[in-house]
Amino acid sequence: MAYEYKDYLGSAGVIKERIKGFKPEILMVMGSGLGFMADYVENPKYVGYKSIPNFKVSTAPGHRGRLVFGELYGKKVMLMQGRFHTYEGYSIADVAYPVRVAKLLGVKTMIVTNAAGAVNTSFNPGDIMLITDHMKFFFDSPLTGPNIEEFGDRFPDMSRVYDRDYQEVVRKAAIELGIELREGVYMFFPGPQFETPAEVMAARILGADAVGMSTVPEAIAAGQCGIRTIGLTLCSNMAAGVLGRPLSGEEVNEAAEAAAPKFSSLVAEILKRI
Ligand code: HPA
Repeated sequence: MAYEYKDYLGSAGVIKERIKGFKPEILMVMGSGLGFMADYVENPKYVGYKSIPNFKVSTAPGHRGRLVFGELYGKKVMLMQGRFHTYEGYSIADVAYPVRVAKLLGVKTMIVTNAAGAVNTSFNPGDIMLITDHMKFFFDSPLTGPNIEEFGDRFPDMSRVYDRDYQEVVRKAAIELGIELREGVYMFFPGPQFETPAEVMAARILGADAVGMSTVPEAIAAGQCGIRTIGLTLCSNMAAGVLGRPLSGEEVNEAAEAAAPKFSSLVAEILKRI
């Protein structure tokens, strides 16, 4: 279903009442197994997705289903502990919905994270990839339907979805921490099945470095409404066909857990620098 501006306003209004004057600057969308960052939020205020009109329920493992507002490394954040995916049966507009609500709450920057399969054979499981661009060929857009002018142009530019100045900040933060940062293009596949080896090979030929089932809906909505985006991928596994063995959902969550300290220190350093 296509939402109207008043729907977003309604959701933002309910949240504003709950957070009583708190003004988030940064939206943090946490991927599979990465919601633990919520534990570091100071003076947290929780708003369950169930209590917000038009928010969906997160059904994916490792996704808790609530907004956490508070301070994280000195920044005022709105952290999504659990996100929505199209494979849960939600439309791509549903998945991007919280980003537009965040815009109405005053958010200027989004840090969007995910776990994904590495397509680039020089990467290793556990690597962190800075997203420099994305691809999404075969699925709807979150902007489909009547354009809501308040959120931006009908035909928004997508050549700078991932903010270039912030990319530089991430590179410097990684150097400071001694983290070997990968960079590349994230390609969206709707899932929930993992890709076939043939799809992964095609993705590689097309220029993708990682494949995953999230992030792009949120990034498109953020790009349209002028939220500056930082995208970080945790390469939880080599994508199908690279190692010649089957993939499992458990290994994705286990890898996310194992890389958690490195990932959270990078996010902390980024937050301090933006
Ligand atoms: N493919 C798609 N999504 C994923 C993967 C993958 O290999 N790993 C974690 N999320």
